[in-house]
Amino acid sequence: MNVTLTVNGELRSASVPPETTLLVLLREHFMLTGAKTGCDIGDCGACTVIVDGKAVNACLMLAAQADGRTVVTIEGLATREGLHPLQQVFEETGALQCGFCGPGVIMTAKALLDENPSPSTQEIRTALAGNLCRCTGYVKMIDGVHEAAKMLQSTET
Ligand code: FES
Repeated sequence: MNVTLTVNGELRSASVPPETTLLVLLREHFMLTGAKTGCDIGDCGACTVIVDGKAVNACLMLAAQADGRTVVTIEGLATREGLHPLQQVFEETGALQCGFCGPGVIMTAKALLDENPSPSTQEIRTALAGNLCRCTGYVKMIDGVHEAAKMLQSTET
């Protein structure tokens, strides 16, 4: 079947078997390998991307379900001006350790900040509850989301 969707601002199409997941479409057809394959059953959040403004596990969504929708992956966050504040803070503060969960965590955090620009620590914890970090470095991630929220707000004022 043919699917056409907007990925990181570009219209992309592919012909795929019907059982193809969005994660496989992104990684193997569009060569966007930022979203990681962790558990492949919706438990770890490593595959998180944003679909029509909401963070979703790309391993649980069929490519066909993404047809006609707008997807943002970690590759779509940086601009010519530089990294997204979440990427910048996570890099500068060591909020990532091995880095495997990072793209998923950052995409979840981006969806949160788009909806709630100044989340509480509890709201960040709740949003990130589906993103597992095998290095268990959650404290720096939560601090990093607060810091990125401040940076985003200061650039908007
Ligand atoms: Fe999708 Fe783990 S790979 S949730």
